[in-house]
Amino acid sequence: MTDRLNKIFARLSPCGVFADIGCDHGYIAKAMLDSGKCEKAIISDISAKCLSKAEELLRPYIESGKAESVVSDGFNKVGYCDLSLIAGMGGEEICSIINSAKILPERLVLQPMKNCAHVRLCAVNAGYKIVYDSVFKSAGKFYDLIVLKKGLDTLTQEEIEFGRDNINEKGKAFVEMLSIRIKRLKEYILNPKVKGETKENMIKEIEKLEKYL
Ligand SMILES: C[S@@+](CC[C@H](N)C(=O)[O-])C[C@H]1O[C@@H](n2cnc3c(N)ncnc32)[C@H](O)[C@@H]1O
Repeated sequence: MTDRLNKIFARLSPCGVFADIGCDHGYIAKAMLDSGKCEKAIISDISAKCLSKAEELLRPYIESGKAESVVSDGFNKVGYCDLSLIAGMGGEEICSIINSAKILPERLVLQPMKNCAHVRLCAVNAGYKIVYDSVFKSAGKFYDLIVLKKGLDTLTQEEIEFGRDNINEKGKAFVEMLSIRIKRLKEYILNPKVKGETKENMIKEIEKLEKYL
């Protein structure tokens, strides 16, 4: 498993049936079964070709009935699960999967590659409460990890944009990510081509981000 996958795995709690939506390689489902964190795993992907990699990796578990494989667009053909992971996809795709699901699991863990604000809003509107929402760094990149369970939640505009735990804890990865963003904006602002409203908006953005440092 890569460092990113290990960090995601660390946030998955023990469950009965675990479903990895868009599992591709299937490493997380295998780790869940190997560690005994889940009793059964469903490996699922919209692409039969991608899913075949996971099927190969989990063959002994599939043969023993501890894992089930299904080609599915999101949750469409996925049976009951109490914990599900959707990782490594864009935020719009994750929201589309959540919004088109007939039944959603009790707990959901999301690792969007972009549009995290949209994902937070969509998850809360779908009836989830945020349990953990923080950025981590892996192989030089920053990733948001959002852990949810069914319940009521209300997010402030700031929480939607940055993630609740990032704001409250101002962790190392979050501060580093913002510092890089601020540095890039400051460099960009020095470009003589950047003028007027664009420049003013960038200055406002820098001021907003600096509040979290
Ligand atoms: C970049 S891979 C991420 C794999 C793994 N989840 C990870 O985080 O390393 C994205 C996977 O999601 C699958 N996928 C994309 N849209 C999907 C959808 N609507 N339903 C199920 N799988 C989907 C793709 O086929 C691909 O295998």
